[in-house]
Order: sequence, then C-alpha cells, then structure tokens
Amino acid sequence: CLVMLFVLTKSYGQNDEADVPPYTLPEILKTADGKPVKKITEWEKKRRPELLTLFEDNIYGQMPKSYDHISYKITNEIANAMNGKAHLKEVLITVEKDNKMVAINLILFTPNNGKKNSPVFLLINNRGKENTDPTRKTISEFWPAEMAIDSGYAIAAFHVSDAAPDNKDTYQKGVLQLYPEQLTADNGMKAIGAWGWAASRVMDYFKTDAAIDFDKVNLVGHSRGGKAALWAAAQDQRFAMVFSSCSGNTGAALARRQYKPAETIRAINTTFPHWFNNNYKQYNDKANALPVDQHMLISLIAPRPVYTTSATKDLWADPVGSYQSIIESQKVYALYGKKSALTPTPPPPNTPIIHSVLGYHNREGIHNMTAYDWGNFIRFANFHYFRR
Ligand code: GCU
Repeated sequence: CLVMLFVLTKSYGQNDEADVPPYTLPEILKTADGKPVKKITEWEKKRRPELLTLFEDNIYGQMPKSYDHISYKITNEIANAMNGKAHLKEVLITVEKDNKMVAINLILFTPNNGKKNSPVFLLINNRGKENTDPTRKTISEFWPAEMAIDSGYAIAAFHVSDAAPDNKDTYQKGVLQLYPEQLTADNGMKAIGAWGWAASRVMDYFKTDAAIDFDKVNLVGHSRGGKAALWAAAQDQRFAMVFSSCSGNTGAALARRQYKPAETIRAINTTFPHWFNNNYKQYNDKANALPVDQHMLISLIAPRPVYTTSATKDLWADPVGSYQSIIESQKVYALYGKKSALTPTPPPPNTPIIHSVLGYHNREGIHNMTAYDWGNFIRFANFHYFRR
C-alpha cells in the first residue's frame, strides 16, 4: 500500500517540487566587473549589451544584421477576405546577400474596420502550414485569425521552414546561406536564431505597409517558436510586445532549476543540435556554469510588455520555473519604474494576470496554444495599447 502511494505520487509529480535542489541565479543588476546597476543608463549602456553578447556567445549565436537588398512582392491579394471582414495579402519577402538569397512567405490579414492602420500579431509558425491557411478552409485555434480580426487586430504568420528547416541535416538551407561564416563559428547562428532573424525581416516589411501600426507589433511563438520569439524581441527592440507560449527550456524556464520532469540542456542539445550554437553544448549537465540564466532573456525585453504561458500538464516545459523567471526579471522593469502585478507564487490554473507589464497564465491542459491563450493575448494587448 505504501509502495502504491509512492508510485502514485511519483507519477503525479507531487514530490518533484520538493526534490528541486537549491540554486543561485546570476545577478541581473551587476556588471561582469562587479559594479551594481542602479540607473537605466547603466543598464542600457553597459549591462544590457553585456548580457546580449553573453546570450549570443553561449546560447543562441550571433544575429547578423547586414544584407545587400530586401524586396517585397505581393503574390496574392484579396481585399474582401473572411466575408469582407479582412484584407488578405501574401507577401514574398526576399533578402539577398553576396548573390545568395532567402525568401520568406508572409501571410497577413488586416481588418476592414475603417481604421487607418492596425496593431498586429505576428506568429512564428513552427507547426503545420495548414494552421495559417490563407483560404480559411482550415481554421485552427493555433492561429485564430478571425478572432484577431474581430478584435481589431491584424494577424500575420510565416513558417519557420522558410528561414531554417527544423532539421539537423538541412537547417542550413535558408537564412544561413547568406551567412556561411556562421556555420563554422562556435558562436554562430543556428535555426532558432534564423527564425528570429526572419521575424525581424517581417518587421522591415511592416514598416512599408500603411495598414500596419508599426509601433504596435506583437510577436507570438509557441514552444520552440516561443524560444525564438523571446530571442528575436531581445535583439530587435522594434517589437512592442511578446507572447511566448509554453516555451520551456532555453525559452522562459530557468536553466538552473533542476526540476526532474522538465527538459534539460543536455536533452535539448541532443535532440535538437541544430537549434543553439556549438558553445551551448559545453553546458550539458552544467547549467550552473552558464554566465546567464533565462530570467535575463526576459529582462532584455524590458520595459516592453511580455506575456508568457504554461499548461498544467506540460511539466516538460517547467511551469514553475517559467514563472520564476518572469518574477526575477521584475528587477529590470522596476528600473524603468514599472511595477508588475505578478503574485509572488504562481497563480492557480486558468487565472490570467493581464493588467500588468509582465503577464502570465497557466492553462489547464496539455502543451499547446489555443483560443483560450489567444483570448488572453488580446486582453493583454488591449490593456497596454488602449487601457481597455
Ligand atoms: C520538444 C522540445 C521542446 C520544444 C517542443 C515544441 O518537446 O523538447 O524544447 O519546446 O518540442 O517545440 O513543441
């Protein structure tokens, strides 16, 4: 009977929390040479660039910024899509460098609501292309375009495979063709970096589209896409807001928290060697040796609003460790005078924290991004943009 009880609690994971060994996070507000960071200028001029470089060198790789030419071609346009509610544009974004090129297909619906321009949600789509069907024959909760349009938001998506195929043997066939030197550098860009790079090229396009309110671009990603979204927004401060769904290891979750059911650095580097740079492999089983932890990635997005999610059954992505990380990043938001409404311990399931610069919910259910999640994304964006 006792044995039974043990097996039961074990499989339900109730002892796992108690089993987490204590850990100490590296300090956000102290420079590498040990000086305290007390002012915004010290953060922006010294500590922030220092952290960005540490993330590039040890985890995500470089983010090359230069290219020779970018062009935009509308490949399909329907002014009265969704029964007239929306305007569809499919845009081929072509970027060239040294006679090499990469092409990103963007799908964009803007609302026909008489407004001059609209805020937009941009999804980094890491799942099947049918999720972002421009014909709307397939309607998916993963990218609920009608819901966004009905709420006055434009909604856009590109697929990760255009930027870097999600495959260890072929990830080079995309953005990395423009930057071959990255392939041999130990701190070189890999797939997650390339997906973030592509999100920034969509930003370049948005700048040219009068239907988009360029100051209100929300970047959205789920899981591996949620890791890329955080990294892209840390790099590119033009993104106004970020939504990172169930991003877990090397996303929102703290690396140093050894929570048994969750993914480890070794696991992620072994299954997905093409996601992060070569240097990151040195930290397999050595999270404590990292000069950064993931709360610092969220901090790099400050003072812009960030919303992260977990799911109650998604222990692989460590819900508690993901919450801890936004809690820790509050220090940097506080430098900007922004106080969040986060509670010291994680809120109960299905209890979103919306009226706050850092938002969060733990959805009841499995690893996914659903209409429930998007409903809260829209509420969070409404609060920040329109105070409603
Ligand atoms: C795997 C991987 C995670 C990732 C997830 C996803 O489970 O281990 O790191 O977030 O896939 O992208 O759905």
